Amino acid sequence: MPSNNNASLPETIPAHVAIIMDGNGRWARKRGLPRLAGHRAGTENLRRVIEACVEFGVQILTIYAFSTENWGRPEDEVQGLMSILEDVIDRELKELHKNGVQLRHIGRLEEINPTLQRKVREAIAMTARNTRLTLNVAFNYGGRDEIVQAVRRIIADGVKPDRVDEALIGQYLYTGGQPDPDLIIRTSGELRVSNFLIWQGAYAEYYVTPTFWPDFDKEELRQALWHFARRERRFGLVSAPS
Ligand code: FPP
Repeated sequence: MPSNNNASLPETIPAHVAIIMDGNGRWARKRGLPRLAGHRAGTENLRRVIEACVEFGVQILTIYAFSTENWGRPEDEVQGLMSILEDVIDRELKELHKNGVQLRHIGRLEEINPTLQRKVREAIAMTARNTRLTLNVAFNYGGRDEIVQAVRRIIADGVKPDRVDEALIGQYLYTGGQPDPDLIIRTSGELRVSNFLIWQGAYAEYYVTPTFWPDFDKEELRQALWHFARRERRFGLVSAPS
């Protein structure tokens, strides 16, 4: 395997990368700025990381933008994060569409304000045929809640108990039809899963960096891909499946 001390890429690129974009608040505090300034800087960075994912050949990128627990943050921060999502759709959608990005939402859309819901649905419809990169935006998302919702729908569909298996549950999750994440990145050094893709991440490789999200750049993403390429994924076996 070639070394990673230049701008090369490993041969194996994970098809599905998921990111817990953590550290916006600390990034802002270090600069004496309000927390929302950190979220805005994080949003700028998101644009760069999406571009890098397209360039590196990642097929699916899932980002954790707002968790079901984040409603407990101060009201101005919650409203600020809602406005950021709206701004991203208003300002970035055309460019994302032009670059072949398919937008998807994972989480409880019905609990956010109706105007924003409509914008999200329109963005999803507009980009539905794009194939270059699928961007799953986890917004008002919680992994446990996702499983609860899936179980409810399985029961509502009258599925017989002996038909319930792992594949069926996977189909009922928000990510139904997509491969599980291969690599989950968490920025800002926290060693927690924080209710993110808890079913889908069962065999994901984790990569944690101390870098705060607004500073996690293309080169750090490249480093994460190299770390991933060096891991031997055994899926519970004694060696990697052939
Ligand atoms: C965690 O950092 C980050 C969030 C809760 C929000 C992430 C949102 C963005 C990066 C903006 C992009 C958003 C959309 C909607 C596309 P933190 O605030 O918990 O950081 P801290 O742990 O340092 O306080």
